[in-house]
Amino acid sequence: MVICSVLALFSIFSKSMAEARERTFIMVKPDGVQRGLVGKIIKRFEAKGFKLVALKFTWPSEDLLKKHYADLAGRPFFPGLVKYMSSGPVVPMVWEGLNVVKTGRFMLGATDPKDSNPGTIRGDLCIQVGRNIIHGSDSVEAANKEINLWFEPKELIAWKPASEAWIYED
Ligand code: RTP
Ligand code: MG
Repeated sequence: MVICSVLALFSIFSKSMAEARERTFIMVKPDGVQRGLVGKIIKRFEAKGFKLVALKFTWPSEDLLKKHYADLAGRPFFPGLVKYMSSGPVVPMVWEGLNVVKTGRFMLGATDPKDSNPGTIRGDLCIQVGRNIIHGSDSVEAANKEINLWFEPKELIAWKPASEAWIYED
């Protein structure tokens, strides 16, 4: 009886792999767009098995970018960063999956491409820190903030990919 109750409680609170997912905010920066790398970058997240939840093509305002990078406002490179990021269209996206925030950061590689490992997006596709082609949230908290900043709730699409049973164990 006691064991049954414990098992019932466990089943309520434990989550399947597919349910224990989180979301991250990924954005192809203006240089990634100008260099025609959008498809290549999306392909990497698709091929990994992550689920696309939202995507748009937009030319962001300086105001939005100042909010997005608010924690870097005191850094000497901040004005240049805002200028670079507002210099053309970008592709903001939301990707979902198990550990997607941390894994997404691994897939991007180190901030400065000279330190990014080969095989990572930055390691393979760019050279300088001020032109590092892609942004990725650095924590679940930051991801939630950034998703809310760039997308309306109705733009986040709930759907179940046909491949899910072949990506997650349960
Ligand atoms: P991001 O937010 O864009 O994904 O980059 P990150 O977390 O890897 O690095 P972060 O410290 O958040 O820096 C944001 C972006 O600012 C530019 N940066 N320039 N000149 C510099 O020393 C310098 N340091 C950072 C980069 O574009 C970096 O991605
Ligand atoms: Mg960052």
